Amino acid sequence: SRVVKLAVIPGDGIGPEVVAEAEKVLDAVTDGADVAFEKTRFSLGAARYLETGDTLTDEDLAAIASHDAILLGAVGGMPGDPRLKDANIERGLLLKLRFALDHYVNLRPSVLYPGASGPLADPGDIDFVVVREGTEGPYVGNGGSIRTGTPHEIANETSVNTAFGIERVVRFAFAQAEKRRQKLTLVHKTNVLVHAGGMWKRIVDEVAQEYPGVAVDYLHVDAATIFLVTNPGRFGVIVTDNLFGDILTDLAGAVTGGIGLAASGNINPDGAFPSMFEPVHGSAPDIAGQQIADPTAAILSVALLLEHLGLSDEAQRVTRAAREDIEARDGSARTTAQVGDAITARLRA
Ligand code: NAD
Ligand code: IPM
Ligand code: MN
Repeated sequence: SRVVKLAVIPGDGIGPEVVAEAEKVLDAVTDGADVAFEKTRFSLGAARYLETGDTLTDEDLAAIASHDAILLGAVGGMPGDPRLKDANIERGLLLKLRFALDHYVNLRPSVLYPGASGPLADPGDIDFVVVREGTEGPYVGNGGSIRTGTPHEIANETSVNTAFGIERVVRFAFAQAEKRRQKLTLVHKTNVLVHAGGMWKRIVDEVAQEYPGVAVDYLHVDAATIFLVTNPGRFGVIVTDNLFGDILTDLAGAVTGGIGLAASGNINPDGAFPSMFEPVHGSAPDIAGQQIADPTAAILSVALLLEHLGLSDEAQRVTRAAREDIEARDGSARTTAQVGDAITARLRA
């Protein structure tokens, strides 16, 4: 039978709590299946940094890269911890993985599941996916400052946009749009970021010629935040740059019943490197260690992982179990483990 080598990075804060539940679900759905997951656990994140001073060693990176896929919880230490003053776990670990493993598609679906309690009175039928560019934009770390710490400091953070990088993610987004709602919205800020925005717009218009069935529109990012609240049902696929995509997907998570439900995949569609699946949320230091985090986002990330690996039946079973659990929620408090157990029980039923 097939063996999948899975790297597991529980990380910090609520990361280990939600990953434990995601693993329960993965074990349950593959129990008796024709596929076996061989897991390697990597101790990375703020805790590892505090212990050894390492953020991501070359050895760890090479070992992770030799797996078929990655499941990650969240990384990021306690805010204000003076021992983390010189660390940058987010850049040095999470972004390093996304860049080194060429995760140029950051796929973030937003679905309002029946029974999910979102903040909108009349949300409509929300079912879109944000295709967030994952390897460029303001995230590349192309910046610096001079006269640092003085009143005359100048700090630059350059957004890097390449025609190659935009075209490949735009092509992925069109292929998604063809499969769902035949609707693609480019989100950018072409009225101000004329150079980068202009190139995004041109490339979208060019690729659109090959997809006559897909309706294409454009929104400035500020206006996109309006429609994500007033009419999120209008979206099919949103394609956007790395930073705009980051911001929009937290908002999208909030309108679809909370960030505790929002899953994501950092995908290398070419298959040259393992893709990495993780909740959209972070390490949530404000609730860490209390067993009150919702593990559903991590569990739905397992569904994305299974789908990516071509295990569609298993993926659908996980999504269905999570969906049924969401629908059955009555507002009474459950621990992180109780949510994981309930979803696992549905899978085993
Ligand atoms: P966050 O997503 O960790 O938390 C934002 C709010 O959402 C908090 O109130 C938190 O309690 C709540 N929340 C998050 N996940 C939840 C869940 N599963 N169930 C219930 N409530 C949940 O964002 P933040 O506070 O801006 O960041 C905290 C740390 O995490 C920072 O160090 C940040 O850099 C890092 N971070 C990491 C990732 C990642 O590893 N992928 C993503 C985002 C943020
Ligand atoms: C996310 C996070 C990361 C991002 C941070 C922690 C680097 O917010 O996955 O959404 O900005 O991409
Ligand atoms: Mn984010």
